[in-house]
Amino acid sequence: MIKAYSLAELFTALKEPLSENLSIGLVPTMGALHEGHASLVTTAKKSCNFVITSVFINPTQFTNQDDLINYPKTENHDIALLNSLGCDLVFFPNASEIYTKDYHFPGIELGFLDQTMEGNSRPGHFQGVCQVVYRLFELTKPNKAFFGLKDFQQVSVIQFMVKHFNLPIEIIPCETCRNESGLALSSRNLRLTEEQKIEALILFNTLIEARKNTREMKPSEVKRKAEESISQSKLKLEYIEIVNPTTLENLKETWCEHARMCIVAYAGEVRLIDNMEIRE
Ligand code: PAF
Repeated sequence: MIKAYSLAELFTALKEPLSENLSIGLVPTMGALHEGHASLVTTAKKSCNFVITSVFINPTQFTNQDDLINYPKTENHDIALLNSLGCDLVFFPNASEIYTKDYHFPGIELGFLDQTMEGNSRPGHFQGVCQVVYRLFELTKPNKAFFGLKDFQQVSVIQFMVKHFNLPIEIIPCETCRNESGLALSSRNLRLTEEQKIEALILFNTLIEARKNTREMKPSEVKRKAEESISQSKLKLEYIEIVNPTTLENLKETWCEHARMCIVAYAGEVRLIDNMEIRE
């Protein structure tokens, strides 16, 4: 596996795959890799000839400085994992090369996609995500890019961005990986105590329960019931929404196909996020 720590090293490593017209797959990450990232790389390996994983903790998408400072860093572990998966290139850029003085992200009007859920809770977050992903696309020139559905709204935003700028890149959404109890894998889980890991399972259990209730209840009732069960736990609920998977519009009275429930709650200081399709 090639390791590139600078743009010069990246461009050198990309010469051959680009000149040979290999299909390039990109898995953008912020490191602290776990089985969820591993499954993105494995999926990418199946349909691309050359797989790049980028590891960059992007400062412009953090709205909470403590979260940025405390974001786990596990470089040696990440390299070993990517190596074992057959990743072809790992790219560890530094911020000064991602955001050079003369680089300018054109910006993107995301409309309602940025005015709900994560957009409301973390103003500016998705502009930061678009800024870095656009830059990574520009630098690595992938044919396909792989993103986990755990960050469901992020996938919607990136799909929108690709259409908006007419980028020749296929976005591949990949299912959320969970541990054997159902907890969605996340780099932030490293900051959970054993007790909090058990408390956090209420998210998964609430989603499963909601899925059972969609036949008899309206979305607003399913949402209320879910809010009740989280409020009885030790987690601090930030929001629950049931949304149309394409527009992210909140569903209240009637269901649409593939309706999705999205939840964010805190276990202590750790912000947990999860979602599930609750109606086929
Ligand atoms: O999902 C993430 O880890 C990040 O938001 C991403 C896509 C790597 C951009 O920094």
